[in-house]
Amino acid sequence: MDIQLSMSHLFILMLGWSSIAVPVDAAMRHISQCRICHLCHLGETPPDGSSGISPDEAGSGTVSVIGADSATASSTTDVAVTSALGRHLMKSRARTLSQASSDAEDRSRGRAGATFRVTAHRRKRRVPAYDPELDPTVPIQFKPSSYRPRRQTEMASLPVCDECYGCRQNLTLISESTVFLNNTYTSEMGATSSWIFRTQTNMTPSGDAVVKVYCLPVPKRVGGQPPTCNPLRIAEIMKLLMALDKLSQDCGFMDLIPRMWLAPVLGVLPGVGYPVDWWGLWMEYVEGISLENFLYRGIPRRLPLETIADMFNNRLNKTRIVKGAIFDLLTSQCDRHAQNLFLQEDGNLKLIDNESCLQHMWRNCGFDSVMVPTTQKQEIIRLANQYVNKLPTLTGQPQVPRFDADPQLLLDYRCYLPEGREQMGTEYPPPIDKCLRNIASMAPKEVAKFYGFPDVRVAANLHTRATDMITRGYEWAAKYGHPQNAEAKRYRFQPKCCSLHINRTHFACGHAWKPSFELPLGNPFTGREWDKDRPDPGTYVGGTFPEDGDVGGNVAEASASTQSGP
Ligand SMILES: Nc1ncnc2c1ncn2[C@@H]1O[C@H](COP(=O)(O)OP(=O)(O)OP(=O)(O)O)[C@@H](O)[C@H]1O
Ligand SMILES: *[C@@H]1O[C@H](CO)[C@@H](O)[C@H](O)[C@H]1NC(C)=O
Ligand SMILES: *[C@@H]1O[C@H](CO)[C@@H](O)[C@H](O)[C@H]1NC(C)=O
Ligand SMILES: *[C@@H]1O[C@H](CO)[C@@H](O)[C@H](O)[C@H]1NC(C)=O
Ligand SMILES: *[C@@H]1O[C@H](CO)[C@@H](O)[C@H](O)[C@H]1NC(C)=O
Ligand SMILES: *[C@@H]1O[C@H](CO)[C@@H](O)[C@H](O)[C@H]1NC(C)=O
Repeated sequence: MDIQLSMSHLFILMLGWSSIAVPVDAAMRHISQCRICHLCHLGETPPDGSSGISPDEAGSGTVSVIGADSATASSTTDVAVTSALGRHLMKSRARTLSQASSDAEDRSRGRAGATFRVTAHRRKRRVPAYDPELDPTVPIQFKPSSYRPRRQTEMASLPVCDECYGCRQNLTLISESTVFLNNTYTSEMGATSSWIFRTQTNMTPSGDAVVKVYCLPVPKRVGGQPPTCNPLRIAEIMKLLMALDKLSQDCGFMDLIPRMWLAPVLGVLPGVGYPVDWWGLWMEYVEGISLENFLYRGIPRRLPLETIADMFNNRLNKTRIVKGAIFDLLTSQCDRHAQNLFLQEDGNLKLIDNESCLQHMWRNCGFDSVMVPTTQKQEIIRLANQYVNKLPTLTGQPQVPRFDADPQLLLDYRCYLPEGREQMGTEYPPPIDKCLRNIASMAPKEVAKFYGFPDVRVAANLHTRATDMITRGYEWAAKYGHPQNAEAKRYRFQPKCCSLHINRTHFACGHAWKPSFELPLGNPFTGREWDKDRPDPGTYVGGTFPEDGDVGGNVAEASASTQSGP
């Protein structure tokens, strides 16, 4: 320690010498010493020729814990990373300590975080509320403080820097254009308020990665609200996503789902210069464009129908469609629409994932994916949105279903089963089969522990589904298994359409195809009873399946309800 300190003194001395040439004010600041930094140079030391103010000497008192290591750590990146991590740890500890007396203006604090504290206060006299921050068994990547920005009041005293150093990532906006089949596409901004960037990493072979940063107190759209920020909740979502990543590795879905990991981010928001110095969700960068972009957008125009038909008829990777349908049902995905499905030029698909799965967040959704039959999203592909959602028409006449064929009909796994089989049943690709059996053999508690799910309820949902899929088969699990959709949102299996044909200006099914236009009774939004002042176009009770007869359904229901979790 003695040696380190003296080395750091030496270093500061050297900085002192070099700054004789330039006024002290002109010395370049470390990113941690700027409220805003317009150009942040990568690296632990200022770029060639500039003098620097190291994070520990700026004297504003905000980052006093850095000490010697940041000055001595400049030689190898390994050391630099360790020291930055140590610095981060200290900072988060400092934040935690000051949390109790935190000021009300802190925009970065989430509503539920506040509620949590209130609850904690109320329960004080009995058991102290559980605080993951104080639990020594919770690793840093799951600590809420890892996702909490520095307080704005603390930063207010720092200057705006034109240039600074110390950044580790060059963050760029992801919404730049992508060229796909010689057409240009702008990627979607994402509906939620988290920021998503493209940047570099040494964790992937390509060196490319995407990082999602929560809690950046800057609105994504001009005039918009800054994102709400609830670090406690984010830490829990990160735990869920890491469990899903483990599941994906364990069951062999890595070809379909980008790998995810958690790591610190140190960079600035492009165009704004706001420093990001907390943890983010990192993902492999997925080549290609969303299916939504492919089907409906593109600059100068959407691709010709011939190109789209060729992609769907001849190039789509069939193995991945079957796997995607398995993954989405197994993990009860509730938000699998064309924006979350990525298509690559060679016809391979990737699923961009998010937390709306296993009923972790959306408790009133069992599963909803364009790839899984019986769901509303798939029914919309077959019949059109206004029809499935039973929307009123201007004329007062009933809605009419779609007359053309949506290319997404070809995402139906039944088109790609071996030997022309109609059902997947219990025949899964061997690694998936093995993994489902393994999940089914454990108790929900063990499943939670094995994958690291944030709670047993979520693990129980996976356990129930895996058990159903392995014992009763895929179709049974979709029709009768749990988590389950409300009756008004449980659709029947319909005839499949497996090829596209172009009829002048629109797509038609390439073979004889007669979908029925029937809908379940009830309100398609709430899943509850029909409550509009016009007739319900629904004709059957959702969740009943004529092919199983009365018995099939009843037996199924009885056993499903005994199996269902809490
Ligand atoms: N791993 C990735 N590789 C490449 N692009 C990605 C990746 N993840 C996300 N994107 C792009 O960023 C956009 C927004 O991402 P994402 O869907 O995760 O954000 P979101 O705010 O959760 O949006 P939504 O709620 O609509 O899903 C995506 O539509 C996609 O274009
Ligand atoms: C970051 O990347 C952009 C685009 O690749 C580039 O123009 C810019 O110079 C880079 N910035 C730094 C600080 O490296
Ligand atoms: C894209 O354009 C180039 C040159 O114009 C052409 O050689 C290539 O075949 C095109 N690729 C596709 C997929 O259309
Ligand atoms: C289709 O996907 C499977 C599974 O990921 C993969 O093994 C195969 O190579 C892919 N086929 C093509 C043509 O890319
Ligand atoms: C996933 O998508 C849904 C809806 O598009 C959104 O509400 C949710 O926040 C997203 N989750 C993540 C982790 O981005
Ligand atoms: C093509 O579409 C028209 C309606 O636009 C329809 O009348 C006709 O039967 C269709 N032809 C074929 C071959 O599908």
